[in-house]
Amino acid sequence: MRLRDISKQLNSSLDARILVKHVTRLSDADLIGIDDLSLTESQHVQLQDFIKQRLDGRPVAKIIGYKEFYGRDFIVSDDVLDPRPDSEILIDVILERAKGRRGLSILELGVGSGCLVLTLLSELNASTAVAADISSQALGVARRNAQSLGLGDRISFVESNWFDNVQGQFDIIITNPPYINSDVIDELAADVREFDPILALDGGADGLNPYKVILPQIRTYMKHGGIMALEHGYDQCGRIKRLIENTGLSEIRDHQDLGGHDRVISAIHK
Ligand SMILES: C[S@@+](CC[C@H](N)C(=O)[O-])C[C@H]1O[C@@H](n2cnc3c(N)ncnc32)[C@H](O)[C@@H]1O
Repeated sequence: MRLRDISKQLNSSLDARILVKHVTRLSDADLIGIDDLSLTESQHVQLQDFIKQRLDGRPVAKIIGYKEFYGRDFIVSDDVLDPRPDSEILIDVILERAKGRRGLSILELGVGSGCLVLTLLSELNASTAVAADISSQALGVARRNAQSLGLGDRISFVESNWFDNVQGQFDIIITNPPYINSDVIDELAADVREFDPILALDGGADGLNPYKVILPQIRTYMKHGGIMALEHGYDQCGRIKRLIENTGLSEIRDHQDLGGHDRVISAIHK
């Protein structure tokens, strides 16, 4: 089999390369100049199966079982949202606002794979975290990621409907809740609609249900000087900012993703 034939078949050289690298354990450098992949019989069978799954619409990350986020690999399964490159802006925002501070306590609501909170724990020395999700399956995936990144002793997990089972006050609160309007879920691209869990997508009639529950309570769970950052849909910034203005938080800022869309809002509890 040849890489360029697989790229043509999948209509994506990136997807082809990721699948081939996973099956062969070759690196990008190894693949330079290779024409025929010279696969073993079992590699051939596995690659054919992966190509079929991709042609059936399954996202690459869900096929190989992991996705890179902020330079680290995160295990993913059908129970969690695939980490999105656009969410990396939330990490940059927190690192900028928390510059020079260490030993911080972090809360994430709706942890999914754990890509956000585990990235922050990796980047912020001596910090600890509590991670909440309503899905016990998602918490299982986040736990595995914490172990594989060597962060298991700095994070605890709680099954919770937003703040319901959360205790304490935190230096940092982050959330990337489901924010798609219920009535547009059916119109999403098939690889999102069919392979990301509905619990990670559906934000209710106007997509804002989670923010309407989380934001009125958020200040109670923040320490003075605490920072909060949340991700939202590209057209929700104005409406969510108004919800945040009612919380009494200060220095409310909006931040854009790689495509220039409004994506994250941050604020502090003075
Ligand atoms: C959009 S995903 C984000 C996952 C991960 N934080 C990320 O950025 O990739 C939203 C997460 O919120 C969780 N969730 C949905 N409703 C929830 C609720 N009522 N309470 C807590 N978590 C909830 C979902 O299970 C899902 O893991």
